[in-house]
Amino acid sequence: MANSITVRAAVYRGDGDRLAVEELRLDAPAHGEVRIAVRAAGVCGSDRHVIDGEWNVPMPAVMGHEAAGVVEAVGAGVRELAVGDHVVVAWHQACQRCGECAGGKPWACMRVKSNESRLPDGTTRWQSLDGAEAWPYLAVGAMSEHIVVPDFAAIKIDERVPFDVASLIGCSVGTGYGAVVNNAEVLAGESAVVVGAGGVGLSIISALRLAGATPIIAVDVSEEKLAEAKRLGATHGLIGGPELPAEVAALTAGGADVAFEAIGRIPTMEQLPTLLRPGGRAVFVGLPPEGHPLTLDALLLAYEGKTIIGSNYGGLVPARDFPRVAAAYLAGELPLDELISARIALDEVNEAFDAMRRGERTRSVIVFAPESPASGAES
Ligand code: APR
Ligand code: ZN
Repeated sequence: MANSITVRAAVYRGDGDRLAVEELRLDAPAHGEVRIAVRAAGVCGSDRHVIDGEWNVPMPAVMGHEAAGVVEAVGAGVRELAVGDHVVVAWHQACQRCGECAGGKPWACMRVKSNESRLPDGTTRWQSLDGAEAWPYLAVGAMSEHIVVPDFAAIKIDERVPFDVASLIGCSVGTGYGAVVNNAEVLAGESAVVVGAGGVGLSIISALRLAGATPIIAVDVSEEKLAEAKRLGATHGLIGGPELPAEVAALTAGGADVAFEAIGRIPTMEQLPTLLRPGGRAVFVGLPPEGHPLTLDALLLAYEGKTIIGSNYGGLVPARDFPRVAAAYLAGELPLDELISARIALDEVNEAFDAMRRGERTRSVIVFAPESPASGAES
């Protein structure tokens, strides 16, 4: 296709758990689309699910879905964005027209294709150098020097937000903030427990502090993560295990008002309602492997009036919520810099996933040089 460019990207081909950094062709933005020079891309647990073979995606897959960058080209019909705008990318790309989208629940859009790693029209703008179609993971493919997305998925934010922090707003931070504000609707003074203090769990903890929850109990298997959680606003840190319900009850006069699972493990999801007082809300944020049912004591729900809330992308309305998160960060109310423990080059992406598998690091962010030019403009 005319005006495609060559980009370097981290690609998954289904052979083992390694990504290959290789060159691909990326089409020019079509009608209603923008091309973004990616400046930062977060390394998220969802990518790891794919690379470790837990979820199926079309391959070859351009990995990554947590991106911020600068608009560098706009397709026909794009009115809201201009070249030079700083944007955060939303990976849940809803149709923008159905009842759910119009009603403020784009995450419930049934026409969405981004979960299938396709642009909303079902296609891709990527090709391998051998000409085969390549697919942007979650319709973003953030681990690439340049990406093409629909204009509504590129949310303009304040240029004072650094790109590494901004990238996290597109997934982990946005998801955590939305789980607290949109899904659980946490009120000041409510007690909260967060199981799993990785990138998503720590984002939930900082949003809980913003919402005024107290106490905020962080749970992890790593003391290092618990120490980080306390820096971000947790009042207590506990090592997970069978004693957890009793320990949480002791700190919350009988059980928490709200509990979040931010790992995606079936055993911790099953334990979550037991951490609550009657009437409490259990929020499932972590994504489990496909095909693993839960076993729950139904009396906890029917008799004790507990609620289980599924949180898909934090119930986010990106155009509303991304700028709010950015504003809270700029006001010093969300300590998002603290979430980033490593800034790496694209070629170091496999080591970042290895560190994640070992339970190390809060968030690794791939940083792209600003000058990285769009090469091969004619083809
Ligand atoms: N009990 C408590 N904590 C645990 C346990 C356990 N049994 N097992 C692992 N953890 C902790 C890890 O130590 C780590 O701190 O859970 C955390 C998981 O964090 P990350 O690996 O950084 O994953 P993250 O990016 O936060 O994503 C978490 O949310 O969006 C989803 O797909 C994503 O399912 C994933 C989840
Ligand atoms: Zn993610």
